Amino acid sequence: MVVSRNLWKAVDAYIAETIVAPDPALEEALAANAAAGLPSIDVSAPQGKLIHLLARMAGARKALEIGALGGYSTIWLARALPDGGRLITVEVNAKHADVARRNVARAGLGGKVEIRTGAALTTLPKIEAEGLGPFDFVFIDADKTNNAAYLEWALRLSRPGTAIVVDNVVREGEVVDAASHDPDVIGVRRMFELMAREPRLSATAIQTVGAKGWDGFALAIVL
Ligand code: DHB
Ligand code: MG
Repeated sequence: MVVSRNLWKAVDAYIAETIVAPDPALEEALAANAAAGLPSIDVSAPQGKLIHLLARMAGARKALEIGALGGYSTIWLARALPDGGRLITVEVNAKHADVARRNVARAGLGGKVEIRTGAALTTLPKIEAEGLGPFDFVFIDADKTNNAAYLEWALRLSRPGTAIVVDNVVREGEVVDAASHDPDVIGVRRMFELMAREPRLSATAIQTVGAKGWDGFALAIVL
């Protein structure tokens, strides 16, 4: 496992160097996050580019991110939107949100991205009340305990064709442990159960390995 982890990392570095090409603003965001003491639980560069490409494939103009952290995935996602496009991202931690605002501004995306500070379950109803939806693309990457509730909100703020991506749905395989007492695992499993029973969603999940270990993304489209 240790050997394969190193190889996963090396392959991620190879992919990042050859075809992903993260720009300086992304590298600076990671450096600023580390300097501010944020946990380095951002998506990897290849994963950020995946989110970016999925948003472009979906033709997204309006995107919603639940969980900004320091804004690394925010920058990847905002760069996928056309001129006039808009990304609203919600972040519970005020310090993280401040770091994210600075990172987004440094990337030249301040006009495209709005970072709302507060618990997503408080800010999402406001976003709905303000009529800011429907969103074309939703990326869920906040606390895992509320994952099912975030998916419900993504649905409320969607239209047929909206693409929804959820990070961290495999958790080193722990997702299959139906007896788990880990609130994160329970949260992810509730999200899967909602995806399974929700007739408005067609979904899958893909396991990933790389610099961030073994995890995965769930992908869904709103019918
Ligand atoms: C955790 C959260 C994330 O969004 C992630 O990508 C990795 C880890 C966590 O809470 O541990
Ligand atoms: Mg994540």
